[in-house]
Amino acid sequence: MFFTMGRFAVPSQSEVNSSPGTRRTRGSWNPRQEETSLQLVRMWLYLAALLGLYYLRRWYRERQTVENLQDKYVLITGCDSGFGNLLARQLDVRGLRVLAACLTEKGAEQLRKATSERLQTVILDVTSTDSIAAATAWVKAQVGDRGLWGLVNNAGTVLPVAPNEWLTKADFVKVLDVNLIGLIEVTLSVLPLVKRARGRVVNVSSILGRLVFYGGGYCPSKYGVEAFSDSLRLELLPFGVKVCLIEPGAFKTPIINPQTTKDILQEVWSHVPAEIKVTYGQHYFETYQKQFLQLIDTGSRNLSLVTDCMEHALTARHPRTRYSAGWDAKLYYLPVSYMPASWQDFLLTRKQPKPAHGI
Ligand SMILES: NC(=O)c1ccc[n+]([C@@H]2O[C@H](COP(=O)([O-])OP(=O)(O)OC[C@H]3O[C@@H](n4cnc5c(N)ncnc54)[C@H](OP(=O)(O)O)[C@@H]3O)[C@@H](O)[C@H]2O)c1
Repeated sequence: MFFTMGRFAVPSQSEVNSSPGTRRTRGSWNPRQEETSLQLVRMWLYLAALLGLYYLRRWYRERQTVENLQDKYVLITGCDSGFGNLLARQLDVRGLRVLAACLTEKGAEQLRKATSERLQTVILDVTSTDSIAAATAWVKAQVGDRGLWGLVNNAGTVLPVAPNEWLTKADFVKVLDVNLIGLIEVTLSVLPLVKRARGRVVNVSSILGRLVFYGGGYCPSKYGVEAFSDSLRLELLPFGVKVCLIEPGAFKTPIINPQTTKDILQEVWSHVPAEIKVTYGQHYFETYQKQFLQLIDTGSRNLSLVTDCMEHALTARHPRTRYSAGWDAKLYYLPVSYMPASWQDFLLTRKQPKPAHGI
């Protein structure tokens, strides 16, 4: 007698025991097929067990922290607001010696008021060589022979964001200067101090350093941060210095205020040469502006998703090379970044407005 199970007909015990020649076969049961399915099940079980072991080992390694955190100095750039500000307060509570670099005196004063006396501030404009040199001399005096355990290159700017054709060289330089050249200059300036401590360089990139879907200097700057960090990581390995990248998705911070974004985009559009403007049309501009503002609005308010990654990169014995922060980054942007370019193009352009003179 046969019992049917899914696609296979399973024989009764008496039929299994009978010789192949005398067996009555009414269904499609085949011993070779059954053997193959068992092998497949076994293979998946081995794979699941291997994956489980991998994650268990990773979990165990990643929960180990470095010792003597209270003796470790960490310099963070861009502490006036957003991730930098929250990270400075978070590490201060954890007992680290935070050297918080702010762009403005007002930002520095507010941060000092909200933190312990351990935290110290310095004014730093990452686009100014003099400012970087002065801040480095100050950091050197603070850390002495211990060196600098952590450098968090967090300062950044986004605007203007617009189709590349609407922008000028100055628009690109403004963003690249802060996000990439500034980051490189600060790193080169304090690197001897980080090497002395065998510490960490934590560079804040973005998911837009892995996948691009709008124009302007921001995405090229973050791709540059990724490339710089990768080469630096390889070079510093023999010195015991670790380089980590933070790749957040969209978060609601002052970096991209909706009203400022709208005003700057309007300003950019007003300066676009007439012959270019006519190829896009007013409808394109309005839809682009609306869609970009909607995108900003999807940002998460939970900034600690990012600062927890930064803290882990600074305090774990075995930090990750890359941290993607935010569900949009993990579940959408990062998977899309691994797809073939034609799939990416389809997904990223399907809702975009059509230019007036497009094909
Ligand atoms: N928010 C997001 O969705 C998101 C996503 C991915 C990556 N990121 C990155 O995260 C980092 C922090 O940004 P955030 O979102 O926390 O925004 P934020 O609150 O605007 O923080 C950026 C900080 O950098 C400072 N800054 C700007 N220009 C500077 C300069 N020339 N020198 C020194 N500091 C300067 C800003 O000072 P002022 O406020 O005084 O201008 C501000 O304190 C940036 O690198 C950004 O690209 C952000």
